[in-house]
Amino acid sequence: MAKYQIRGNKRLSGFIPVSGAKNSALKLLAASILTKEVSVIHNVPEIIDIKKMEDILSNLGCKVTVSKNTVTIDPSSINSTSLDPDLTKKIRASIVLAGPMLSRFGTVSIAQPGGCLIGARPIDDHIDVLSQFGVTVEQKGDEYIFNNKPLAGEIIMSEMSVTATENAIMASVLSDGDTIIRVAAAEPEIADLADYLNQMGAKISGAGTHNIKIEGVKELHGTEHTVIQDRVEAATYLMMAIGTNSELKIGPIVPEHLSIVIKKLKKASANFTIIKESDKFYFQTFPNGHIESVNINTRTFPGFPTDLQSAYAALMTKAKGESRIFETIFESRFGYIEELKRMNANIEVISPHIILVKGSSKLRSAEIDAFDIRGGAALVLAALMCNGETTINHVEMIERGYEKLDIKLSAVGADIKRIN
Ligand code: EPZ
Repeated sequence: MAKYQIRGNKRLSGFIPVSGAKNSALKLLAASILTKEVSVIHNVPEIIDIKKMEDILSNLGCKVTVSKNTVTIDPSSINSTSLDPDLTKKIRASIVLAGPMLSRFGTVSIAQPGGCLIGARPIDDHIDVLSQFGVTVEQKGDEYIFNNKPLAGEIIMSEMSVTATENAIMASVLSDGDTIIRVAAAEPEIADLADYLNQMGAKISGAGTHNIKIEGVKELHGTEHTVIQDRVEAATYLMMAIGTNSELKIGPIVPEHLSIVIKKLKKASANFTIIKESDKFYFQTFPNGHIESVNINTRTFPGFPTDLQSAYAALMTKAKGESRIFETIFESRFGYIEELKRMNANIEVISPHIILVKGSSKLRSAEIDAFDIRGGAALVLAALMCNGETTINHVEMIERGYEKLDIKLSAVGADIKRIN
């Protein structure tokens, strides 16, 4: 178990590079098995969850080679249709192998996927979507065995689920006929997946909207692709810069992936602009006099991302006034709050979905624990904002989603030590 020791209340300065998006790269790796040909994916973050997905693919018989942030996948010799349960239990994204495996082989067995403890994380939407494709499912203990090649048709999602939408797209690209997915999730990572699949020869239109059309094709071929920037990582560092009164350049970013986050932070009088340098965009922050409390509710894209709820709550502990945060997506995504309270944060939990953050609380350093990726990142933000040395345990949880977080922060002057 590794931990961070952070001495906070320091102004940071310099440049924080943003990595490729975890929640896109994971699905691109899964999509690469939809062909027998080799694909190359650039800008893949070197994080624990990506390594897990690479291990799952290798375990199926793929040849996966990684050199820094480029992953090459040769899926020509896949020799199994059952995913290693020990690996699939570790990451939620393993569930998105169902669609591609069914499209290619017509069968797959997957153990109940894991992922952050932020709610029940059921897979009923996935089962509902795949059954609309004519796929049958049999449950043996916590193993799900899916059978049948997916049949084209009209699919109606029961939730705007990100991974269930991704499964639906990957189940339809090789089916014979046209599929339309209604009530689809519209996250930018889904559009990136569609771009990758279209480069492989798929015919997908409307990804990034709530209605996605797919014209099934006979086969796909290998391709080369660069993962989009991680909007959640970028905004997490933006809030760290705001919370520490720092002058930081953060990016590259895609501003339209963060429109509502930018609007809410501007409303909170955070002092930053978006600059353009050789056709790439960056956040440039400046010292803040103060920040105001602003309410948010998390929504599917383009609403306020649930993955930024915890960092935003940590930031609001230093804002003037009280902010109400309504987490509409997950039913238990407030696990980090007990840890913030141990740092003297004044937060009232109204329900499993609503908290009131009382601002201008003087945070105190403490020894705390990270329970999930984004909650852990919020604890780092809180530690950076307060005097004294805070110890955060189980930082592997944070490193599942943030590439080289301690190195990126040290490079801009943060006093953060990683202790194995
Ligand atoms: C993806 O998870 C992301 N993970 C999550 O990021 C993100 O928080 C979430 O989308 C929402 O944006 C990956 O892409 C790997 P959902 P996913 O299906 O697809 C309910 C991070 O920190 N639901 O959109 O699992 C579910 O309980 C992670 O990077 C069902 O009820 O989320 C939730 O309330 C955390 N049944 C809501 O839908 C299902 O079968 C949205 O979940 C599926 C989902």
